[in-house]
Amino acid sequence: MPKDDRLVQTSQLEDEELLERSIRPKRFADYIGQTGVTDQLKIYIEAAKMRGESLDHVLFSGPPGLGKTTLAGIIAAEMGVELKITSGPAITRAADLAAIVTNLGEGDVLFIDEIHRLNRAVEEVLYSAMEDFAIDIVTGKGPMASSIRLGLPHFTLIGATTKSGSLSAPLRDRFGVLAKFDLYTNEELSQILRRTAGILDVRIDDESTMLLASRSRGTPRVANRLLKRVRDFSMVMGDGSIDREMVLKTLDILNIDELGLEDLDRRILRLIITSFKGGPVGIDTIAASLGEERVTIEDVYEPYLMQLGLLHRTPKGRIVTDAAYIHLGLPVPVREAVSKAQEEETEEQIKLW
Ligand SMILES: Nc1ncnc2c1ncn2[C@@H]1O[C@H](COP(=O)(O)OP(=O)(O)O)[C@@H](O)[C@H]1O
Ligand SMILES: [Mg+2]
Repeated sequence: MPKDDRLVQTSQLEDEELLERSIRPKRFADYIGQTGVTDQLKIYIEAAKMRGESLDHVLFSGPPGLGKTTLAGIIAAEMGVELKITSGPAITRAADLAAIVTNLGEGDVLFIDEIHRLNRAVEEVLYSAMEDFAIDIVTGKGPMASSIRLGLPHFTLIGATTKSGSLSAPLRDRFGVLAKFDLYTNEELSQILRRTAGILDVRIDDESTMLLASRSRGTPRVANRLLKRVRDFSMVMGDGSIDREMVLKTLDILNIDELGLEDLDRRILRLIITSFKGGPVGIDTIAASLGEERVTIEDVYEPYLMQLGLLHRTPKGRIVTDAAYIHLGLPVPVREAVSKAQEEETEEQIKLW
């Protein structure tokens, strides 16, 4: 019988999916870090349960891979309700949203990923769904049109966005809880990696865990992905256990440097330095020059470059710091001395921005 490639691929996908599901924390106890967010939420969940009510609507903001979807699942589990997952771009018509919310059960959690990408018509329907737990359905056309109000179960909306600033004010105002996700510390990422290694049943020493953590750009998704890759390499090239040497070899093959930067990180910095004298240069120009999506650069790459202090966002555009030149092994430019007043002005502008 001929080998069916599609079948093989599908089963591999399922394996990956199963693995992903097994390492995703299901309870607060397994959710590491992000305590600024979780400490609050635990209280609100407890209080809502004591009152026998649904949890207030929650908005999650922060870069991808930091555990927003995971935490939505945990909230639903802790509340003892169902989780329904959808995304902004997936809901194109008001009727789509109506179908989703009318099918929710009492207290259920509706998770809308990329909620800043909802269109206007859908957003309007969401307002009354969130505020009054009701939607108005228009039937008929022209002079015969009439509208009926349909009651909904008291559900909890959890919206996730990479940029809370791009949410419309009326939508933002309808969330009772605003939770901002931060990049994780290396210590927290080590803890996550130890937990994942336990689930995957791989042996890894503490030094290697710390090393991997420090190259994971503050992001659990990246940390887990790197661990899986090192595991692959160690199974094929070693005895399956992970040590420092195996980690370094893998990172080298993946082109991840000492700071955890990938090719695109370095291309961004090098572009600003060589083509724009270190900046300032607009994000759209950077994206066009590199042939990458603006959102990818803004959401995935810049947060980590900024956290490392290699890049700043200013009102006039992006600038790189001396540390970026040093990291890339390029000569640091000699700059004219900036007067104290000018410096303060720039800082003010940055704060305003
Ligand atoms: N706080 C955490 N503790 C342990 N693992 C986490 C944590 N946050 C995220 N992860 C892991 O990282 C992966 C990405 O998280 P996810 O919730 O999909 O991120 P987001 O929705 O913010 O893009 C998850 O599969 C999960 O295994
Ligand atoms: Mg997600």
